[in-house]
Amino acid sequence: MDNYTITIDGPAGSGKSTIAKILAKELGLTYIDTGAMYRAVTLLALENGIDVDDEQAILDLAKKVKIDIDNHATDADKYTSVTIDGRDVTGPIRSREVGAAVSMVSKLSGVRKYMVSLQREMAQGAKAVLEGRDTGSVVFPDALLKIFLTASLEERINRRKQQLLQNGQKADRALIKEEIIHRDKIDSGRQDSPLVVPQGGVIVDTTGLSIKEVVEKIKRLYGEKVHG
Ligand code: DC
Repeated sequence: MDNYTITIDGPAGSGKSTIAKILAKELGLTYIDTGAMYRAVTLLALENGIDVDDEQAILDLAKKVKIDIDNHATDADKYTSVTIDGRDVTGPIRSREVGAAVSMVSKLSGVRKYMVSLQREMAQGAKAVLEGRDTGSVVFPDALLKIFLTASLEERINRRKQQLLQNGQKADRALIKEEIIHRDKIDSGRQDSPLVVPQGGVIVDTTGLSIKEVVEKIKRLYGEKVHG
């Protein structure tokens, strides 16, 4: 079932979303932005005044609503459309507040277990590209191609800055650096499903590479897997 699936994991700003969206479009794959799902649950918690470490309350709330993420390949510079019970939260889930809290919520094992079950359901029977932190290590360890995307800290800061500016948000370099380092630390240091290179995964360092070069490299690796 997983045999045409690609997983892309990596730290914040490594280019996962951009690359995954282009791959989805060019290879005709279902696109699953797992980070958007953790962001939606985090927004719910914040809106309802729930503590970011109150696992049971967050889980109860998440199970009560319907979170829909658009799995069609979108343009690389567009955010995944997300709704909660039909309400468009595409913009709000990218806010600084959600960005600051999402790593705390995504540390919670119960929340992760629920998200993973939704992600598996979504990809069921589809040829998909999933992007996140644990898609190759936990969600689809049997995926055909497992990529670990990375880039130097400097480059990741520059990319995040560009992304924020493009979306009309403020972009303070020192603040971005602090946020990325903080997020890396929590994502890689948590007990449940930390960010790791998945077993059998291929590390692709995108520092100094153009988007096109990264896409071509992954397409080559995918082609090799598909054609044995
Ligand atoms: O990719 P992103 O920046 O939208 O992800 C937001 C956060 O969600 C990230 O800091 C960690 C968490 N996340 C996760 O724990 N597991 C995933 N598979 C995807 C995201």
